[in-house]
Amino acid sequence: MKKIIGFSVLILFILVSCSHKDKPEVTEELKTALRSDTKTFMESLKSVLIKEIQTNGIVNAVSVCSDTAQILTNNYGVAKGIYIKRVSFKNRNPLNVPDDFESKVLKMFEEQFHKNQLKPESEYVELIEQNGVYKVKYMKPIFVQPECLNCHGTEEHISPQVKDLINKVYPNDKARGYQIGDLRGAVSIQKTL
Ligand code: HEC
Repeated sequence: MKKIIGFSVLILFILVSCSHKDKPEVTEELKTALRSDTKTFMESLKSVLIKEIQTNGIVNAVSVCSDTAQILTNNYGVAKGIYIKRVSFKNRNPLNVPDDFESKVLKMFEEQFHKNQLKPESEYVELIEQNGVYKVKYMKPIFVQPECLNCHGTEEHISPQVKDLINKVYPNDKARGYQIGDLRGAVSIQKTL
């Protein structure tokens, strides 16, 4: 009998200690990894864009952008085992609408931007728990650079052919009227810990 009780206690102990998962921490190491994922992703998107503009011109770059951006984003996420997206309140692609969490952070970024407090190094990190699974959610602002104006600038910056093509592919486009330095949106990453 004693043996049985002892054995049961041991089993119980093993079960409890196995099911108990410590709350992970958002370490500096993790933040550095997220920053680096964001940087590599944005650089690879930009290099594809610039290469296409240089070799085939701005009009072709629109077509490349509209397919390649989504494919490149999905492939990057799969390769790294993360959720990754570009989101914006003034989105061009309906797939890039922010969800509730992303909207909350984008609003915060916008407020900081209007107070001149948003910097290229600004970021937002939050640890969330869902059904015992911990996830880190990370967002970083995207700013408008000179080369973006060809497709996201004001009327005089976008050529008639580019306008025609954008109107055709994205009839509900909101991603125009920007100036250099404006907040365009954000990169959003989520990683299960
Ligand atoms: C050749 C035209 C072109 C140029 C130049 C361009 N974009 Fe875009 N951009 C697009 C198109 C087309 C989409 C929609 C494709 C997608 O992401 O699904 C898009 C989408 C985006 C999105 C995703 C949100 C949304 O509106 O759907 C962001 C963020 C963005 N662009 C930022 C930039 C930035 C920053 C630059 C400059 C570094 C830039 N773009 C330059 C054509 C362009």
